[in-house]
Amino acid sequence: MATEQREPIAVIGAGYVGLVTAVGFSELGNDVWCVDIDAEKIAMLRGGGVPIYEPGLDQAITANRERLHFTTDLGEALERARLLFVAVGTPPTYSGDADLSAVHDVVDSMPTSDRHALVMKSTVPVGTGAAIKRIFHECGKPDFSYVSCPEFLKEGSALEDFRRPDRVVVGDDGGWAGQAVVDLYAPLEAPLVRTDVASAEMIKLASNAFLATKISFINEIANVCEETGADVLQVAQGVGLDARIGPRFLRAGIGYGGSCFTKDVSALKQLAANTGYHFQLLNAVIEVNELQKRRVLGKLERRLGSLVGQEIALLGVAFKPNTDDMRGASSRILHARLLADGAMVRAYDPVAEDEARPLMQGARFARSALDALDGADACVLVTEWAEFAELDWSEVAKRMRGKVVVDGRNFLDREQVIAAGLIYEGIGR
Ligand SMILES: NC(=O)c1ccc[n+]([C@@H]2O[C@H](COP(=O)([O-])OP(=O)(O)OC[C@H]3O[C@@H](n4cnc5c(N)ncnc54)[C@H](O)[C@@H]3O)[C@@H](O)[C@H]2O)c1
Repeated sequence: MATEQREPIAVIGAGYVGLVTAVGFSELGNDVWCVDIDAEKIAMLRGGGVPIYEPGLDQAITANRERLHFTTDLGEALERARLLFVAVGTPPTYSGDADLSAVHDVVDSMPTSDRHALVMKSTVPVGTGAAIKRIFHECGKPDFSYVSCPEFLKEGSALEDFRRPDRVVVGDDGGWAGQAVVDLYAPLEAPLVRTDVASAEMIKLASNAFLATKISFINEIANVCEETGADVLQVAQGVGLDARIGPRFLRAGIGYGGSCFTKDVSALKQLAANTGYHFQLLNAVIEVNELQKRRVLGKLERRLGSLVGQEIALLGVAFKPNTDDMRGASSRILHARLLADGAMVRAYDPVAEDEARPLMQGARFARSALDALDGADACVLVTEWAEFAELDWSEVAKRMRGKVVVDGRNFLDREQVIAAGLIYEGIGR
């Protein structure tokens, strides 16, 4: 914990990024005014509740309670803090561009000031910072500072990512605010990348687009492995040990999901298109990812024939383990496709059930994995929660009506599943 006097800051938007950023800085000793327009969320936080599931977050909020101030009143934050971190949502629009309406609501609510800076954590298209500075000029607020400080945390390990970031990117056009943000992050001793605003914005989009490309690439390799008799796990190991490539994001499966990859890849593609450039590679990345989820249906049909009336169990529904986030979750597409093909869907997830229920209508939610598997004709492992590695497959075999296990993340012990008398279908094996 810090001993020196640290600068008070504000974080606008108390979602996955905003809340983690607020809590992370409070751990470093900063007083943080965390502002959200969602009065229910703020009331919950004030009452000691935590609106999202993120490992370690509730303990960290409790431990730093006296430095965390949750409010719906932006005025309070403006009075206390000069650095205003913006962490509001930027979901995709129908056209695939980023929806910046929440960002613009924040910009419009800023007063005339030479003391404040907006520090953009939300992922925004390249050119957004320049546009906001133009708005400030046109609205008689030319001295309002602006810094781009994109966020790279991963849900499921977000707090750890705040504490030990791979890098901190600070983009500005000179002035006091950029250095103030650098000073704020200094205790983390992370590699620092100082850039102009547009480059910082592009670093975020390019990073997510590259990671999504790596996933779609290994998924294409997996599909060719299935046709040629190679095993993608062995292939990925051999490829990933090349230091120029690296082992991470080379896990074949049913495709990426979540709020960020899907929307950021599409936003970058649209951004390029808006300038007249056709980003061909990203079209393929997106298409491969879409098809990858649907390949599971093909695997089930090859084993079961028609899916009409078949009971299919989905193990895990969150878009990845250790989160309750259902945005862009592959389970939603599988669920919709299975219902459309006449199957009955039952599902189990250790934490995401409440989020999932309204999004997966028609699915029956079970209390445990075994309960979901009881009487099922087939199961699909969708989210690689650690507890699924501990399943007793002999017990599963007794409970299931059918025998088909589709391991959508190549996560299970194939030999154990087969030894229990079940049929194992991985991805690319
Ligand atoms: N979730 C991630 O893993 C992640 C990682 C890196 C970057 N990002 C980016 O960070 C941004 C936020 O993402 P998130 O997942 O935290 O979103 P989120 O939807 O969880 O949170 C956004 C919050 O902003 C609040 N909000 C909206 N308008 C507001 C306003 N005018 N004033 C105050 N609060 C307002 C909402 O009520 C909500 O609580 C997005 O641009 C996203 O792309 C997300």
